[in-house]
Amino acid sequence: MYFCTVTPRLDLNTIYIAFKVSLYPNTMTRTLYFILIIGLLYSCKNDQLTITELDATLERTLNRASTDGSYTSFILPETGDYNVLLQDPRNRITKEKVALGKFLFYETGLGLDAIQESGKQTYSCASCHIPEKGFMPGRVQGIADGGIGFGEDGEGRTRFHLYQENEMDVQGARPLSLLNSAFVTNSTWAGAFGAGGVNAGTEDVWDNSEMTAINHLGYAGLESQNIEGLHVHRMVVNKEVLDEYNYTPLFDLAFPDMTADDRYSPLAASFAISAYIRTLLPNEAPFQQWLKGDKTAMNELEKEGAVLFFGKAGCVNCHKTAGLNAMEFYAIGVKDLYETGEAFNTDITDKRNLGRGGFTGKDEDLYKFKVPQLYNLKKSPFYFHGSSKRSLREVVEYFNDGIAENANIPDTQISPLFHPLDLDEEEITALTTFLETGLYDNDLDRYVPEFVLSGNCFPNNDILSRAQMGCE
Ligand code: HEC
Ligand code: HEC
Repeated sequence: MYFCTVTPRLDLNTIYIAFKVSLYPNTMTRTLYFILIIGLLYSCKNDQLTITELDATLERTLNRASTDGSYTSFILPETGDYNVLLQDPRNRITKEKVALGKFLFYETGLGLDAIQESGKQTYSCASCHIPEKGFMPGRVQGIADGGIGFGEDGEGRTRFHLYQENEMDVQGARPLSLLNSAFVTNSTWAGAFGAGGVNAGTEDVWDNSEMTAINHLGYAGLESQNIEGLHVHRMVVNKEVLDEYNYTPLFDLAFPDMTADDRYSPLAASFAISAYIRTLLPNEAPFQQWLKGDKTAMNELEKEGAVLFFGKAGCVNCHKTAGLNAMEFYAIGVKDLYETGEAFNTDITDKRNLGRGGFTGKDEDLYKFKVPQLYNLKKSPFYFHGSSKRSLREVVEYFNDGIAENANIPDTQISPLFHPLDLDEEEITALTTFLETGLYDNDLDRYVPEFVLSGNCFPNNDILSRAQMGCE
């Protein structure tokens, strides 16, 4: 069924033509021209406003799935609209902070705490969170210090032969995407960072690890994690380093009210990076354009997939925010990273395998992981915290089968929302297409700087990466 919006188009051109026609001497021609003009005036405006039955179904499904009864709640904020973004009241987002964070995140010049001399200045945050890969690593696991190579876009990174496995900067879980971090109050798969949010009431476990002790400072998840992150990922931020690359004026602009001690420190760097990360919104993806009114932005298959995602397949029961992530933790029984056989320095005893339970120490939280965002996933085909799936179709099939693949997880922990879905092949294809392309923002380049102030190559700066990325 096609609706056609009839809108009179009374522009200057039409008025001018009507005026000219009224001057025609012949009444017959004049009448004929007027009929033509009226017809033109009331013709269909354009295809953009064509709403099909499928669009109407999707809109109804979204209204039902939303928390406030309206599909508009799935619209992501505009990138420059800082005021509507969830943020730490002690670190309000400003454009100066975002501009600075956009450099620091990619700055290989900060990598000065490398375990070995040869590793210095070879890595950055973006070694493991590559924009082209949806801010994920492009392989089963991220590697910063101790890694070498980039390949085409991240898949070619591996251990540098002079580093022992246990000297590498690697973790026992796949890096989370940083898109839609604006919805993340408590960061990591276990939600371990951040004083408030889901961590209110967990104060007694913060001192169990050197890292989460940072929560006592009272900041939100991103601010807390990124102070620690700079240290964990062997980066140095101090006045001397910032002076050397000429970052000092940018810190002055971004943090005019901070004391000098804080201003040229990992605290300020974390504030800037956190502000930047909160702006990483895939708000130009076809689904977003559809939500904002362009019904032609998605094809039929993507729309059918969306109807399933927000309806029958029940994905939205967990992936419920506009970023399709959530500050909730579920066990869906996937394998851990060590089981891929391709990851460094992790094994069955890795605390990260325990999910939220590894942080809270509570049995009821064991093997439960944070609900991750779902935009721009197709280019880094390593899904779940343990990278156990290699295509989005496999992920959809996993949810459709509803059978846990990790025998170590007791059935009693598995979420009752994870169960067989009874989708047929066509439905699986539609849902996969929605994830692959409906949720794919083609222009994440807008979040990447043209250069970093050190003048180094980025996101990696080791000799092999430089050659592969064409830096010299
Ligand atoms: C060696 C790879 C690596 C590097 C380098 C790295 N990260 Fe990560 N990042 C990870 C991994 C792995 C996780 C998930 C950790 C977990 O859940 O236990 C993660 C998670 C995050 C998260 C949490 C996202 C969420 O939704 O909870 C943020 C924020 C983050 N990283 C920011 C940064 C910043 C900023 C830097 C640079 C200072 C950085 N990362 C450098 C591997 C890396
Ligand atoms: C019970 C809550 C729940 C439901 C229902 C659910 N998910 Fe998830 N989803 C999660 C959690 C939790 C993870 C992370 C699990 C892990 O890695 O341990 C996840 C991970 C994913 C990932 C991988 C993302 C990444 O970064 O690796 C995709 C893709 C995904 N879900 C899509 C879907 C689709 C499609 C559906 C509907 C068929 C769905 N999910 C239903 C909770 C859920």
